[in-house]
Amino acid sequence: MKILGIESSCDETAVAIVEDGYKILSSVVASQIAEHKPFGGVVPEVAAREHHKNLAHVLDEALGKKFKLDDIDAFAVTQKPGLIGALLIGVSAAKTLAWRMNKPLIAIDHIDGHIYSAYLQAKIELSEIDVPMIALVVSGGHTAMFYVKNVLENELIGKTRDDAAGEAFDKVAAMLRLEYPGGPSIQESSKHGNPKSVRFPRSMIHDADYNFSFSGIKTAVLYYLRGQDAKGKRNNPEIASVPDIAASFQQAVVDVLTAKLIKAAKDKGVKVAAITGGVAANKLLREQAQAMARNAGIRLVVPALDLCTDNAAFIAGLAYHKFQAGLISDLQLDAKPYTYIRQNKRQ
Ligand code: KG4
Ligand code: ZN
Repeated sequence: MKILGIESSCDETAVAIVEDGYKILSSVVASQIAEHKPFGGVVPEVAAREHHKNLAHVLDEALGKKFKLDDIDAFAVTQKPGLIGALLIGVSAAKTLAWRMNKPLIAIDHIDGHIYSAYLQAKIELSEIDVPMIALVVSGGHTAMFYVKNVLENELIGKTRDDAAGEAFDKVAAMLRLEYPGGPSIQESSKHGNPKSVRFPRSMIHDADYNFSFSGIKTAVLYYLRGQDAKGKRNNPEIASVPDIAASFQQAVVDVLTAKLIKAAKDKGVKVAAITGGVAANKLLREQAQAMARNAGIRLVVPALDLCTDNAAFIAGLAYHKFQAGLISDLQLDAKPYTYIRQNKRQ
């Protein structure tokens, strides 16, 4: 069964064709980084306009010479959460295609899609995950921990109380006058820095729950750059170099993410843990999590970089399992911007 998936929740316009949940036949992602770079972050209206401009071309490219719309058995789309203008473009396109081709329409939660990238990766490695796992979704918009029972069922067990980790990378990069997006620039700058040069806070690292907070570290970097201590008092330290600050910040964030991931896996007694989302592209995070998981006897699944960042392969892949379970939408489907980050539970 071939499913065509569409993703347009944030700043990536993506279309993919995936067969039977795992075989990626085609996957095209048009990034809008260049459009948002001058603003230092994603501008919702710019994102919606770019999706509007690019989606038809991305669809054509994904179909290529090999596939026709007639070959597609169902259409899937990211319905939530995300920027409403951006989501609406993808949802309208998917509804139109499903109606025109008279094929099923399947709605996907973007976060479930990120979690599914671990299943996609495991299948690519030719080994399946058929046991419960802990999944950490860590991106520009989300930082959340899930107890994943199976491919269709997961429970939110922790989340950030304020900023997402990727957002902290982006904001700290801006403070250090490094380029947007901040994650890759901080990683690059860190190569030349000493992660022990500045001791930034590791918020909530010892808490019993699986929640996070990244606004404190952002403020700590700001105060540090102003020559103040954590309470805002002037202490005139000799300010470290940008690479030293970048490396120290990166280390602090990675320490918290890895500690909480392994703690959650141990507490819940699972043997598999996964990290996904744009921040999972971070080399230090991947290496440190791998080393800690190995020590704890846990198998770590970190999807390939192009599966970690936003794409439509995880949308089309997960849609196959929803289709098998009869979870099909009708043409009344509406985009929903809600995010559990500002709610107590997912919607
Ligand atoms: O998943 P994603 O592509 O889009 C969202 O759904 O947000 O994640 C983008 C985020 C950005 O905040 C970016 O700075 C961060 O992922 N990121 C990284 C790295 N590459 C991307 N953060 C840390 N290290 C990286 N290498
Ligand atoms: Zn995402």
